[in-house]
Amino acid sequence: MRSESQVKSKITFICQQCGKENPKWLGRCPSCGAWGSFVETRVSPPSLSSHHHQLANNAPQELYTAQKGDIPRFNLGFSELNRVLGGGLVPGSLVLIGGEPGIGKSTLLLQTSDSVARNNKLVVYVSGEESITQVKLRAERLKISGKNIYFLAETNMEQVLQHLEEISPALVMVDSIQTVFLDDVTGVPGSISQVRECTLRLMYWAKQKNIPVFIAGHVTKEGSIAGPGTLEHIVDVVLYFEGEPFHNYRMLRGVKNRFGSTNEVGVFEMGSDGLIEVNNPSQAFLSQHEDTSIGSVVIPTLEGSRPLLVEAQALTSSTSFGPPRRIANGIDFNRLLLISAVLGKRARIKLSNQDIIINVTGGLRINEPAADLGIALAIASSAHDIPPLAKLAVMGEIGLSGELRTIPQIERRITEAVRLGFNACLLPKSNSNPPLQHADIHLLTADSITEALRLGLSKKG
Ligand code: TYD
Ligand code: MG
Repeated sequence: MRSESQVKSKITFICQQCGKENPKWLGRCPSCGAWGSFVETRVSPPSLSSHHHQLANNAPQELYTAQKGDIPRFNLGFSELNRVLGGGLVPGSLVLIGGEPGIGKSTLLLQTSDSVARNNKLVVYVSGEESITQVKLRAERLKISGKNIYFLAETNMEQVLQHLEEISPALVMVDSIQTVFLDDVTGVPGSISQVRECTLRLMYWAKQKNIPVFIAGHVTKEGSIAGPGTLEHIVDVVLYFEGEPFHNYRMLRGVKNRFGSTNEVGVFEMGSDGLIEVNNPSQAFLSQHEDTSIGSVVIPTLEGSRPLLVEAQALTSSTSFGPPRRIANGIDFNRLLLISAVLGKRARIKLSNQDIIINVTGGLRINEPAADLGIALAIASSAHDIPPLAKLAVMGEIGLSGELRTIPQIERRITEAVRLGFNACLLPKSNSNPPLQHADIHLLTADSITEALRLGLSKKG
């Protein structure tokens, strides 16, 4: 039987990687396998349990009798942000924006604050990272007046909540969750226990007041926000802000959304005046694409449910020393090995003495196998020194025996190619069964990689 003191004990050990709790210290976390990640933590039952009670006073109600009704949504000015949120921000929701340092989280939060403040709504911007002068400088650069935006350089959560109580804003930004802390929780700001308790506090506050809160969170080297198991389960919406350091495009990707689909991406461009939305990303990504250049192929890919046309380039050149090299920028390296192996074995293109470099332009990353055929065609085009057909979009997954496999959502991809003025689409035959009907684009279908290469490359001469 447990003794009284054990039940009341507030000391626990929490894994700083995944948030697993254990009453005793452990050298290795049984949940995530991290070594030496457990930290002694004092948790504060009163703060949590009192909030739980506040939330729990709703009586059970039969689902059948519940009102359907549309969820009211809050327009944030950026249509790309509204889109990822599922059509605007739901009042009382807690949204986490994660991303690497320097990717543009603060810029996005500040610009969003501005567009809300312009509609005569009060916004509180809590910043533990920058001083008011720093933020003012940035605001000036972004041409933000700062009217209706209250800046709060406070990291003590109790104080923050008290100020919020007084100001009663329409929207709250917390930049970042790793800088705020609660007095009654052990651990330095940014530790799992602090991050989790502060997020919980904000969650209850947002729900209680029906006021939406955004929090920015830095991702760790492993690519998670202060341990995956912790924050993402608490908040309503998780968005990741991603991009390559030397490119200006930024993708805002839905990872979790309690009020909408996670299949959405928003596309932004970081310019000298801050973030600009890219409403027509395919056009932006293809802006420097030249028709019929050797080794360059346009691929309709899907980002969530959004079709995007991207350009993949391949360069093959004779290996001068050692084994042939394969360099994959923007695609999976193993996928490139698979494609070049199939090209060598099934399409009989001699690549064993060739280096292959693949580049996806714009700093994008294509993860889906539907891009295989486009990459294969780019490599073949470079190896044979023949350009692909003009105005051709290419898609299809390649199997190990050189067959082309069905890919999902073919209609969306074709429609996007049509919209951007492409003349022809090269796709797996199995995707056109029953036959696809498109009056405004020529569909070239193939069963095998050999056939696809024959159809997709221009005739020599
Ligand atoms: P920031 O929003 O501070 O990133 P985070 O909060 O995610 O750490 O973005 C900083 C980067 O963005 C910095 O490298 C400079 C760049 N930037 C621009 O290129 N243009 C701009 O107008 C602004 C405000 C920032
Ligand atoms: Mg920042």
